[in-house]
Amino acid sequence: MEKHGEKVTYLQVAVPEFDVPNHIYEAIRTYSKSKLREIPTEGLIELRQAISEKVEHKNKVLFNPDKEVIVTVGAMQGISAIMQTFINQGDEVLITQPGFTFDSPIMLAGGTPVYVPLSEEKRFVLEPEELEKRITEHTKMIVVNTPHNPTGHVLTLGELEAIAETAKKHDLLVLSDEVFENFVYDGLKHYSIAFLPGMRERTIIVNSLSKNYAMYDWRVGYLAADEQIMKHVKVVHCWTVSFHSPPVQLAALAALTGPQEWVEKMVKEYEKRRNLAVDMLNKIPGISCIKPEGTIVCFPNVSGFGLPSVKLAEYLVEETKVVTSPGEAWLGEGHLRIALTIPEKEIVTVFEKITEALANLPQKRSLTN
Ligand SMILES: Cc1ncc(COP(=O)(O)O)c(C=O)c1O
Repeated sequence: MEKHGEKVTYLQVAVPEFDVPNHIYEAIRTYSKSKLREIPTEGLIELRQAISEKVEHKNKVLFNPDKEVIVTVGAMQGISAIMQTFINQGDEVLITQPGFTFDSPIMLAGGTPVYVPLSEEKRFVLEPEELEKRITEHTKMIVVNTPHNPTGHVLTLGELEAIAETAKKHDLLVLSDEVFENFVYDGLKHYSIAFLPGMRERTIIVNSLSKNYAMYDWRVGYLAADEQIMKHVKVVHCWTVSFHSPPVQLAALAALTGPQEWVEKMVKEYEKRRNLAVDMLNKIPGISCIKPEGTIVCFPNVSGFGLPSVKLAEYLVEETKVVTSPGEAWLGEGHLRIALTIPEKEIVTVFEKITEALANLPQKRSLTN
């Protein structure tokens, strides 16, 4: 379509489109090759120190920057390193359905993903009873993702406490994916499960600057966990990536330690977009959309149209040139995932187009049937 000069709107990738401020770019220039012989596999110590301080301040749990923090190539490499380290043939890992694609790194490591359903009626909360039903002698790990992609649910302290009790009862590891931690709305608060009693020693925090600092294309993230966990992850990390690019690590350091106002502004902007988008979506006949408490996506229920989500997404591309992500990709059939990565004004025009296309859908379908 673009080749034919048409404007396509891409709302299928949940990556903030905001530009990062100049001080982050400038930090790259401060890199000097004299540092070359001092680059540890875990990352530059200044950055690990900043990560440790950030985690202590924001997530209320202290990890030693020397032995308990690793700088990774985005969250994805961190997740993979954890699975490669701890998951073996036959091990089971509990993940949510719908959810982010944790299943691929689990299977690559030889493990088996076990899907724990989230119910829309219960606002997509990960319930301990649903975890309990699926725990076997092979269960090794629970993956907790808050704010949750794609549903936008932000786990409350009480909900996290219940999950933590289950993890402790069955002596399970917990991977805590917090890559959207800055994107929490309505005055709610993001909590890391790692700070709850008895959880520090079994939780691996996965985080990155991809969303929280709009630095997806810089590929920088981190892991934080107890030394007894990290000493093993470090081996896998070392023999996979050696170390992350030091100039980019300096940029990440600048992002974490520099002014934070631009991040706060970005989050406020996304909250406004979410309010507008959910409002507009709920006015479209056939759609219902729970207000996501966090992230930068909406996950409307579109099952009323009676089409597989892939077909519906295809229809919208053809009719409106708007690309959304079919729920099927998130194991959430009956939904679309729509990223709010366009300004409010554009949201209005794009959603108007979607409304019109969906109103015409029954007619179009009867023509093609
Ligand atoms: C929940 C979740 N975890 C991890 C990732 C991977 O993040 P990164 O880009 O830092 O590798 C994503 C990316 O979309 C995500 O949504």
